[in-house]
Amino acid sequence: MATILLTGAAGFVGFHLARRLCADGHEVVGVDDLKPLFPALKAERLRRLREIPGFLGLVQDVSDTRMTDGLFADLRPALVVHLAAQTGVRFSVEHPFEYERTNVLGMLSILEAARRHGTQRVVFASSSSVYGNSLRVPWREDDRADAPVSLYAATKRADELMASAFAATHGLCTVGLRYFTVYGPFGRPDMAVWTFADAIANGEPVPLFDGGSMRRDFTYVDDVVEATRLALFDTGLSGASVFNVGAGQPRELDVLLRALETNLGRPAIRMMLPAQAGDVNATWADASALKAAVGFLPGTTLEEGVAAFSRWFLENPDVVDAVRRERSLGRRLVG
Ligand SMILES: NC(=O)c1ccc[n+]([C@@H]2O[C@H](COP(=O)([O-])OP(=O)(O)OC[C@H]3O[C@@H](n4cnc5c(N)ncnc54)[C@H](O)[C@@H]3O)[C@@H](O)[C@H]2O)c1
Repeated sequence: MATILLTGAAGFVGFHLARRLCADGHEVVGVDDLKPLFPALKAERLRRLREIPGFLGLVQDVSDTRMTDGLFADLRPALVVHLAAQTGVRFSVEHPFEYERTNVLGMLSILEAARRHGTQRVVFASSSSVYGNSLRVPWREDDRADAPVSLYAATKRADELMASAFAATHGLCTVGLRYFTVYGPFGRPDMAVWTFADAIANGEPVPLFDGGSMRRDFTYVDDVVEATRLALFDTGLSGASVFNVGAGQPRELDVLLRALETNLGRPAIRMMLPAQAGDVNATWADASALKAAVGFLPGTTLEEGVAAFSRWFLENPDVVDAVRRERSLGRRLVG
């Protein structure tokens, strides 16, 4: 069993991945700076993680290069999963420097510390956003990814390129995973699945940008965890790889809304709005390269995943209410 360094452990994907790795018997050292972006949700995820034998949680900023180097010097982790990031496309329009610092400098800190302290493999979260508004679908890893339509996407592409350079220069094994719109229990309150559910539950209007016709390749979190776990341990991977991690089934936002209405048992009030800067029309993964490399394809349907999310949403009113209170207090801003 391995000791794994996992950044962004109090985040949505990090929380689920940490639980899975610990359940498999690994020791996980989880790092998160716990910036005040939905603090109650992060605190609750971390509280639950700290109850698990084999999990150690540290509050640390990955973009602090000296501290990151010190952590690697102490732990000498053979395996690293780097998920910490400033997330969300829209927010990056307003907070560009925060994105550059965490997503670019933070990634470089991890790569440099990994090379200096004998890490064998760094698996990191990239994003479907690197494909920009490419109209040739489904998206494949060998498609061009040099026309991002948000700074967030540009930082994620920069991460892939830096990883490739470290693999070439230092022989580090790096695996970039281009996640496609991840959703599920304990998910992100800034993403459509949660905001739609919350609005339905409260009888508030659901903002549907571009008339709800935008399509997203919604990917259930358990599938993302499984792909990430396999990328971490698969013995066939070497050098620098990049894989799509997506369900391969783009669905309209209005279809998501209808699934939530069914599962939450309440109708939505639709508020039609124009498309927003930085949004792409459709995302669609071709995940065949992932299947060929690690033998796994995300397979949870939107209907199955929304049913699981909705159950969780209805069964955890404390968490949902805490997020709602924070939102109304305007504590979403990065400090
Ligand atoms: N959720 C998605 O749909 C999606 C899609 C594509 C890519 N991704 C990527 O996957 C990764 C995980 O996403 P998520 O949805 O769990 O996001 P999240 O925002 O829930 O988690 C990210 C975590 O990183 C932490 N963090 C931010 N800056 C940090 C820093 N400087 N030092 C240490 N910790 C820091 C945050 O506190 C947060 O807990 C991210 O890299 C994200 O960009 C996510």
